[in-house]
Amino acid sequence: MPKNDLYLKALAGEPVPRPPVWMMRQAGRYLPSYLKLQEKYDFFTRCETPELVAQITCLPIDEIGPDAAILFSDILVVPRALGWDIEMKPGVGPVIDKPISSVDDAMRVRKGDVQESLGYVMDGIRATKDQLDDRVPLIGFSGAPWTLLCYMIEGQGSKDFAKAKAFCYQHPEAADHLLSLLTDVIIDYLNAQVEAGVHAVQVFDSWAGLLGPDDFNTLAMPWLKKISEEVKGVPVVLFAKGAWYALERLAWRTNASALSIDWTVSPEYARQATRREVTLQGNFDPSRLLSPIPEIRKQVKRMIDRFGKDRYIVNLGHGILPNIPVDNARAFVDAVKGYGA
Ligand code: CP3
Repeated sequence: MPKNDLYLKALAGEPVPRPPVWMMRQAGRYLPSYLKLQEKYDFFTRCETPELVAQITCLPIDEIGPDAAILFSDILVVPRALGWDIEMKPGVGPVIDKPISSVDDAMRVRKGDVQESLGYVMDGIRATKDQLDDRVPLIGFSGAPWTLLCYMIEGQGSKDFAKAKAFCYQHPEAADHLLSLLTDVIIDYLNAQVEAGVHAVQVFDSWAGLLGPDDFNTLAMPWLKKISEEVKGVPVVLFAKGAWYALERLAWRTNASALSIDWTVSPEYARQATRREVTLQGNFDPSRLLSPIPEIRKQVKRMIDRFGKDRYIVNLGHGILPNIPVDNARAFVDAVKGYGA
């Protein structure tokens, strides 16, 4: 059991002296010590080398001091394990070679053996656990089926993922096949992470907000529900970004311990929709970390007052932005640590 167990207590719904804090995407992007490694090793080499995974995962723990570590990896290691070549292009983001463009392409995808093809992630987890030495809990993660399907069809990032959505409307059976297959792969993958030692897992459905409530019910909800039920042994956190309308359903009909929410949802609305059923995580607007530091402190306190200190994990509403000064990130974390003092 990690010495600092605030995050695990909050997930279990146990009372805490102050809420735990960590930041989505805390292990990369904005940290000068990370950017130096970026010059030396390409992206997937960083993900595949256990010593680098451990080193990068621990950078924010040493430099910023959050109450949990998130494994350094990426959601796109899953499509990569299924056979796609993916390049992480600086300034562009992920670019997938030969994205799915036909029913035949979709039907040809096979599940394969995750333990084997993603074994390097589990090696990374074990190396990270050694280096963390039980200071804080380690969070494992995966992309959600819908978000992974978006990239696998679109081939790269997009503001509306129109191609991916069109594919689902034109070929619902092929989409269903892919989502179901991805769900099975993700369940195996997350259970393997649990076996390797992560203390909790988070599922990133970063593009859930592109779906209306009805489409969410077919393209996202059933798969998130199944994942939450079939990952065993640790709490599951779901982050369906933008899907504020689904909070109630996610709280009551899935087995999630916590829901992560973005900054477009008020704490009062999120609490009312989910009542005491789940822990909530979020939801500081990442851009607000560019405010003057006294203002960050004030806003953090106000946010905790509104969510309440229990059943709450302080976080951002999405990943930290690359242009955030380290001092501002530290001020965010320190403001939480000083809460109630
Ligand atoms: O804290 C961490 O950084 C932990 C590791 C982590 C990364 N990606 C490393 C990364 C995590 C948890 C992710 C999740 C991820 N990856 C998501 C879901 C969360 C979210 O932000 O919505 C998504 C959609 C991706 C896909 C992805 N990976 C994109 C779109 C990009 C390019 C733009 C960007 O976000 O920076 C990446 C690249 C990536 N993944 C970087 C890092 C640190 C930056 C590139 C680099 O370091 O070379």
